[in-house]
Amino acid sequence: MVTSGGDAPGMNSAIRAIARLSFLKGFEVLGFERGWEGLITDTFRQLTPRSVSGILQLGGTILHTSRCPEFREKEGIAKTVKTLAQNNIEGLIVIGGNGSFSGALDLSKETDTLMMGVPASIDNDVFGTDETIGFDTAVNTAVTEIDKIRDTAISHERTFIIEVMGRKRGFLALTIGLTVGAEIILVPEVKYEKEKVFETIKGNAAKGKNSSIIVAAEGIGDARELAKEIEKNAGSEVRISTLGYVQRGGSPTARSRLLASMFANKAVELLSEGRGNRIVGLQGNEIISIELEKSCKTEKPLDLKLLSLAEKLAT
Ligand code: F6P
Repeated sequence: MVTSGGDAPGMNSAIRAIARLSFLKGFEVLGFERGWEGLITDTFRQLTPRSVSGILQLGGTILHTSRCPEFREKEGIAKTVKTLAQNNIEGLIVIGGNGSFSGALDLSKETDTLMMGVPASIDNDVFGTDETIGFDTAVNTAVTEIDKIRDTAISHERTFIIEVMGRKRGFLALTIGLTVGAEIILVPEVKYEKEKVFETIKGNAAKGKNSSIIVAAEGIGDARELAKEIEKNAGSEVRISTLGYVQRGGSPTARSRLLASMFANKAVELLSEGRGNRIVGLQGNEIISIELEKSCKTEKPLDLKLLSLAEKLAT
């Protein structure tokens, strides 16, 4: 197995579960180090049920991770194919997000080793699963912090722009915004109108609501610029708080651990049946799997109905 791309809380829970479940089925388990880099350089450690003890509750990934541009080159793929062959790897479980899965898809075209994606990313932007490992933890971390910021917003009668992660997608911003009762939620998928932001803040003040929380995904553009414009056009004092990498770390919530354990179970089961080039996922209450290629080539839609629900709830 390999953990790749941005780390997510619950990756270790997945490593533990995959190692133990595979071992029970009689497989030998290798953990490649530092994402694709470990496959290029043939760097791994043998994982046993005991060597993954005590990691269930740890954030990050004991195998380390990286963003590995070399893997994108032909030469990187060729070296990886060689590593897989010389270690007799029958199945490779890739724990990561959609960037890692598209790497696995490229690789699947050059090798007989079966690829299996286990979605883990705080961004929750993998098509084929309602939720990725780590998303729930990141949401809860952000909600805890924003509840505190709300106190200052109310006391000082200020507007706060709280920047959350999500360079390309707004799943985090939307769920966090809704669950902290944000007055405004800005996501990369919907081009926002500045006038509407000013009007909402002024309208709130007219109703006696003198503080506002704006939850903005990092991908919506320059928060400092927006802050200046709100001060000028909506007459509210504005502060910016960037939550940043606290969202990526920390002990996984029970839900992230549960998802990791169930995804691992499905991934190992499929590989032991000789099925691969798929990703596992949660759909409704079921753990399912879909083709790796379909997941990589389809954009997961953002539920815009939730955005309008959040708007109604913040009146
Ligand atoms: O893990 C997802 C994510 O946090 C994105 O929201 C963000 O765009 C990106 O990773 C930043 O991570 P890095 O600094 O590791 O490139």
